[in-house]
Amino acid sequence: MSEKKLEGEYCPEKIYFSDKHAEVYCYRKDTPTELIEKILDYLKEKIPEPLETAADVGCGSGQSTVILAPYFKQVHGMDVSAAQIRQAEATRSLPNISYGVCPAEELPLKDGSVQLLTAATSMHWFKVDLFLTEVRRVLCDNGVLAVYGYMSMKPDFGDPEVEAQLDRLYAEFSKPLRPYHVSASVEMFKNKYKDVNFPFEEVVRCPDVRCHFEGRFGYGKPTPPTGFGFQVKEGGNPIGDRRAPGDFQKRLYEIGATFKRSPEDTVTLYRDYQLTLCRKTNK
Ligand SMILES: C[S@@+](CC[C@H](N)C(=O)[O-])C[C@H]1O[C@@H](n2cnc3c(N)ncnc32)[C@H](O)[C@@H]1O
Repeated sequence: MSEKKLEGEYCPEKIYFSDKHAEVYCYRKDTPTELIEKILDYLKEKIPEPLETAADVGCGSGQSTVILAPYFKQVHGMDVSAAQIRQAEATRSLPNISYGVCPAEELPLKDGSVQLLTAATSMHWFKVDLFLTEVRRVLCDNGVLAVYGYMSMKPDFGDPEVEAQLDRLYAEFSKPLRPYHVSASVEMFKNKYKDVNFPFEEVVRCPDVRCHFEGRFGYGKPTPPTGFGFQVKEGGNPIGDRRAPGDFQKRLYEIGATFKRSPEDTVTLYRDYQLTLCRKTNK
């Protein structure tokens, strides 16, 4: 499968534009509070409370938008897909959030009007240079851009050896999807945007932030079923094959069984988030 074909057939417009994808996509967890608070600690070093305006670009079905609402007077959630925005409005609507359809490269926001702009698991789909120019335009002095993204969700048994065993299991089962991950956008994400030259005075590439959740043990999958690799493997099916590949589930449950956990049990899960923080200081 050539990269050219992938770009043509599996561009974000094709992946994220169907109502079916948006509906299924909605099941994903909201961004955890602990990650947002880390971002806010950085913002508040230079911008005093009360906080006024945040924008979340590439907001999808609103998981990364709704979490900002308690901290800001006004939050804008924006996405190029009308289907995603419809889901966000239906499921994650709050009085101080306004959702809208627009491209990341042309934000309908005034110059210097935004204190925090987030791009959660989304910037790699944008025309990055144009987007970053827009971010500089809309951020106020000392405003912050937070670019972050989530990895696989895994059960946490509190044992480093089991963690390494799980890492190997996830890597093994993600391997068949690799040929379907040839797009430059996915590579950029997997490389944690390290080749992106962020045009800001301060750029902090944070170590991954580990966040914990309570959830069903059976939630663990090597990659979400709506993930890019699954969709491409399934010939562009907007929700991909919902089963984890091969006997992944069986082997995961075998590990759980050694801790007396069955698939329906509620366990602690964890997910690592990559995070880059940028501040515009106009100096
Ligand atoms: C992986 S989803 C992330 C959704 C959400 N931020 C989250 O964390 O759950 C990526 C989103 O980026 C959107 N997107 C892709 N290209 C875009 C562009 N050029 N402008 C705005 N949104 C875009 C897609 O429609 C999709 O909803």
